[in-house]
Amino acid sequence: MALLPILCYPDPRLNTVARPVRAVDARVRALAADMLQTMYDAQGIGLAATQVDVHERVIVIDVSDERNQPLVLINPEIIWASAERHVSDEGCLSVPGIYDGVERAAAVKVTALDAQGESRTLDADGTLAVCIQHEMDHLMGKVFVEYLSPLKRNRIRTKMLKARREAEKV
Ligand code: NI
Repeated sequence: MALLPILCYPDPRLNTVARPVRAVDARVRALAADMLQTMYDAQGIGLAATQVDVHERVIVIDVSDERNQPLVLINPEIIWASAERHVSDEGCLSVPGIYDGVERAAAVKVTALDAQGESRTLDADGTLAVCIQHEMDHLMGKVFVEYLSPLKRNRIRTKMLKARREAEKV
């Protein structure tokens, strides 16, 4: 397994639309394992392949307190979303240090392949529902800050670019 570098907003590669995985083979399983390791190392609750510059429909999630319930969702599709919507604070490993409210469906039903290539259906609400929608946005090239006002988004963009410049100086 290996830690993968995570792209940081506003890296334009984060706006790439991911393609479906053709076959869940050893390569895809290795990618999912590396993504899980990278997510745990960064203390995140979810990671999309897009964020590690692999533009295929793979996401990994663990919303458990014990960090021992890894979920691998390959080619995920939302087949139902509740009319009820909630606003909750989100963060993102690609936008470190930024948290803000985003409105999303309170519950979703998702189909996906697991790491064995088996088709699964998942009913999610609460943090898991938020996380699935957030990660699936990444696969469509969308970062959560794009839901915020242009003013907030520009502030975040400036802050991130400044942080990158400072990091490059060292
Ligand atoms: Ni994210």
